[in-house]
Amino acid sequence: MNGTIYDLIMSTGEKFTRGKLRSELLSHARGKTLEIGAGTGLNFAFIPQNVEYTGIEPDESMRKSALKKEKTFHLHVENGDAQSLQFADESFDTVAATLVFCSIPDPNLALKEVYRVLKPGGQFLLLEHVKRKTPVAGWLQDHLTPVWKHMAGNCHLNRDPESEILRLGFSIEEKKVLWNGFGKMWILRK
Ligand SMILES: C[S@@+](CC[C@H](N)C(=O)[O-])C[C@H]1O[C@@H](n2cnc3c(N)ncnc32)[C@H](O)[C@@H]1O
Repeated sequence: MNGTIYDLIMSTGEKFTRGKLRSELLSHARGKTLEIGAGTGLNFAFIPQNVEYTGIEPDESMRKSALKKEKTFHLHVENGDAQSLQFADESFDTVAATLVFCSIPDPNLALKEVYRVLKPGGQFLLLEHVKRKTPVAGWLQDHLTPVWKHMAGNCHLNRDPESEILRLGFSIEEKKVLWNGFGKMWILRK
């Protein structure tokens, strides 16, 4: 995905609801923190100052945009794939991800990796758009996804990682249903 175009498309929503949600979620980041799918760095402004931050982003154009912002915020972003993280077991206090699991080819594998790299008691901060529970909206999301994913960097409109999150053993500390059921924000604990 082109990083400049992504920032342009996202800019209006950032000023309204999304910026506030990012701020609320990321204010919980503590200690050694990993952000997966850091994109163009839209979360950078909300990372607390005392956090030891590493971001991974596999897409070169998105990463380039993040690297430009990296200088302002003094944060570190590198190449990486959430499905096979280059970090040791139990090495992070916090893992954060916003709007990422919709586009990872194997989201369950990535969730397993998040669980692996988190220290016991570590927290997973997550914001995602999800498949709405009502049949009509869900049906539409299922049927739009095959086209939409080609236009929007493999973004699937019809996912919800919550059942896999619970199956892995995370506990939900806080959960908010957003956007009339089209989104969720979780604070999870390993
Ligand atoms: C919709 S963008 C969200 C970017 C950013 N997190 C945000 O909130 O603006 C989805 C991001 O997930 C990244 N992504 C896709 N597959 C990934 C993978 N296997 N590992 C890590 N990131 C991935 C994409 O490159 C893209 O930057």
